[in-house]
Amino acid sequence: MTTVLDDLAAIRVLPVVVIDDPAHAVPLAEALLAGGVACAEVTLRTPRALEAVKLMSSVPGFLVGVGTVLSTQQAEDSVANGARFIVSPGTSIFVIRAAAALGVACVPGVASATEVMVARDEGLSTLKLFPAAQLGGPAMISALRGPFADISFVPSGGIGIDNAASYAIDGVASVSTSWITPRADIERGAFAETIERARRFRNEVAR
Ligand code: 3PG
Repeated sequence: MTTVLDDLAAIRVLPVVVIDDPAHAVPLAEALLAGGVACAEVTLRTPRALEAVKLMSSVPGFLVGVGTVLSTQQAEDSVANGARFIVSPGTSIFVIRAAAALGVACVPGVASATEVMVARDEGLSTLKLFPAAQLGGPAMISALRGPFADISFVPSGGIGIDNAASYAIDGVASVSTSWITPRADIERGAFAETIERARRFRNEVAR
């Protein structure tokens, strides 16, 4: 049986979603599925994000998680609304331990070797590198993989269609991006474009 982290790594792409209207949640998940990307990280940056998560969690074959999780309470609320995994921008022991207690996967953000060690000490081996491009991109991942060959990274931040292929390297579990799901596209229901963007991005990072 595969784990959620195995499934995310198999999908190879993690769309970062900022959603305002939950009415768009199911059509968005269906568009991503149609584009070959069966997952999304819905960020807690809008008031109705958790409603969107709940709706997306009912879409068969679609794996939904919550991002921008900054507290234990947010982790609990996320799981109560159907999140299968938790993503945070940084390394919070509180969030990591909350996810463990809730029995869901956690992908905390790291930006340094020290943070990798903190997360690794908590038993985690898939970590978000954030903000990836600003930290040095693929070169930063290769450098961290020297001492941390047992860690897989989900680079996030500053990755779009033009530099996605450079992240198709050893040590990358999945590539995170908001390029597939621009907030404005979601708002105007431009889901044909979502399908096309998902396909294009996925082709760039396929190995
Ligand atoms: C985020 O949390 O905003 C992600 O890192 C996505 O970054 P991006 O918008 O640069 O893809």
